[in-house]
Amino acid sequence: MSGPSDFQPSNPALKWIERRLPIFGLIHSSFVAYPTPRNLNYWWTFGAILSMMLALQILTGVILAMHYTPHADLAFKSVELIVRDVNYGWLLRNMHACGASMFFFAVYIHMFRGLYYGSYKEPREVLWILGVIIYLLMMATGFMGYVLPWGQMSFWGATVITNLFSAVPYFGESIVTLLWGGYSVGNPTLNRFFSLHYLLPFVIAGVVVLHVWALHVAGQNNPAGVEAKTEKDTVAFTPYATIKDMFGVSCFLIFFAWFIFYMPNYLGDADNYIPANPGVTPAHIVPEWYYLPFYAILRSIPNKLAGVVAMFSAIIILCFLPWLDSARTRSSKYRPLAKQFFWIFVVVCILLGYLGSQPPEGIYVIAGRILTVCYFAYFLIVLPLLARIETPRPVPNSIADDVLAKSKGRAATAASVMLAMVVAGSLLVGGTQNAKAEEGGNAPPAQKWSFSGPFGTYDRGSLQRGLKVYKEVCAACHGLSYVAFRNLADPGGPGYSPAQAAAFASEYKIKDGPNDQGEMFERPGRPADYFPSPFPNEQAARAANGGAAPPDLSLITKARSYKRGFPQFAIDFFTQYQEQGPDYVDAILQGFEDKAPAGVTIPEGSYYNKYFPGHAIKMPKPLSDGQVTFDDGSPATVKQYAHDVTTFLMWAAEPHMEERKRIGMQVFFFLVVFAFLMYFTKRKVWANAH
Ligand code: HEC
Repeated sequence: MSGPSDFQPSNPALKWIERRLPIFGLIHSSFVAYPTPRNLNYWWTFGAILSMMLALQILTGVILAMHYTPHADLAFKSVELIVRDVNYGWLLRNMHACGASMFFFAVYIHMFRGLYYGSYKEPREVLWILGVIIYLLMMATGFMGYVLPWGQMSFWGATVITNLFSAVPYFGESIVTLLWGGYSVGNPTLNRFFSLHYLLPFVIAGVVVLHVWALHVAGQNNPAGVEAKTEKDTVAFTPYATIKDMFGVSCFLIFFAWFIFYMPNYLGDADNYIPANPGVTPAHIVPEWYYLPFYAILRSIPNKLAGVVAMFSAIIILCFLPWLDSARTRSSKYRPLAKQFFWIFVVVCILLGYLGSQPPEGIYVIAGRILTVCYFAYFLIVLPLLARIETPRPVPNSIADDVLAKSKGRAATAASVMLAMVVAGSLLVGGTQNAKAEEGGNAPPAQKWSFSGPFGTYDRGSLQRGLKVYKEVCAACHGLSYVAFRNLADPGGPGYSPAQAAAFASEYKIKDGPNDQGEMFERPGRPADYFPSPFPNEQAARAANGGAAPPDLSLITKARSYKRGFPQFAIDFFTQYQEQGPDYVDAILQGFEDKAPAGVTIPEGSYYNKYFPGHAIKMPKPLSDGQVTFDDGSPATVKQYAHDVTTFLMWAAEPHMEERKRIGMQVFFFLVVFAFLMYFTKRKVWANAH
């Protein structure tokens, strides 16, 4: 991609092809001989990281699509079945879902890198604009992908965002109807989103090719911001840049693996484990973290149309950056004022993200408006003005000079920048968590669980006792429809043998049919059957329970969460605390009180529960001491029942957890060793280049 190459393969077969299609020459000149500035730092490895992420998303996505069903009645279930029954389906799903977040994380670093070092300036304007187009396509793809699991947040996120288009004058309603394929978000919406979600990544890949082509025409920018002039300024892409990228990629994969194997739901929303329900609006509709700054800009403007225009302008304005910032010095390293404003801008973006996760009320609205003004002021006032008034420090004559003058303070700066980003990033996601706070409930006490932490496993005894509690108590009202009897004999489960699971199944009566006479009949359960639900349909469940249908418990420990707040949330990332769901379920079961505290009135047919949001729950106190007898001598107390049934429900929601953690440990070990090898290889390769 950088002009004609005189590369000639030596193998006769390759030579034959090369004469007809000079593809090896192209590859050689683009990725082997290609001259790379020798002063690139690690921020430049994010290009390679992003290429890998795109490939990974496409690969995992294509396999997931083989098992996914894009239908409003089946989508949620098909995703659950992927996770439970497809070989390594849980891994594919975690890689793809966490991968989307990591992809955005990497693209943000890549973009801020470009901003800091002036990579958008002449002659790289088209390269930069292609990047903005890729980013826009990524946002569309990510948004539509989030809709596919058809959970509550999928559905309501889609509703809120598609509704924005109704603000367009005159055509608004028609556009929205077209997007929906109907008069509300529904099955046609899901179908078209799936189709486009499958298509857009390939469009992204196409624009990426253009992006890389433009890069190879202009050549890479570098931290000094001076163009490469002589051969002394550059090194060959392979092995120098390749090995450095490999090291960057392996470090990134370690970070990525932490989420995949240990915190798969850390960045997700508990509400998305509740199947989409058009009749129930979640308390807070929050987009994924990577959209939050723009969501904040949207909401800080009271007029809907103006808000939508501002939100899109916030992205489109990036296209005009090369002309808004006309300073001749590229790199902010040599622009003391631009450097300060750059960091202020980063903080503004992060704070906007935080506000995007908060309810739009009171002080948050005012702060949102101020920060929105700051955001646009950076592009429209600060950058044009700085170009005029700032006197930059002298830039090095050449890249080779820059390498020689390498300052000693570099490692320290890099470390402090990293630290600032981690703190700021956790503030942002911490905010997201805040917004999911359960209103009006007490925070459930944190329990000790055998399955917490990187080495946690399920306590078999507890699983077996929990199954008994479920069967004898909860099953009267609650279904467990994603768990099959055969699962009781799966590795990492309650530890029954297949024969025991079959015997357990045969105690149930399962409705089957029609038979040859066309009649439905009942037969004993088989291992392949799923736990039967106590009510034939939701209406019946509702009618029998004072108007509130008891939720299916298969996913309940993942579908409930509670607020952790900012500092705690950041600490959770390192301690891997993720048992909000089990803590909550355990607390609900023990949180019933005979008498509501003074001043609290509980409506007829509801019961007072300390931990239930709003405190009035339609479930009568299900457990009391002595209700279930255990064969193993465990105490017959509510506390014990609650603990065991919650453990059992955690397993029901996450049957592959032990496998996930075990494989995670192996992957971690591999990646750390691999990263070390890459690092030392890189040192060796670069030893003669400095
Ligand atoms: C008599 C019927 C009945 C029994 C028995 C019962 N539940 Fe419930 N449960 C309900 C109903 C009804 C609701 C819905 C409450 C509401 O939304 O107000 C509910 C809700 C729940 C919730 C969700 C609370 C929330 O945050 O929305 C959990 C968790 C739960 N039950 C667990 C259990 C467990 C575990 C057992 C067995 C120990 C059990 N239930 C036994 C009727 C029952």
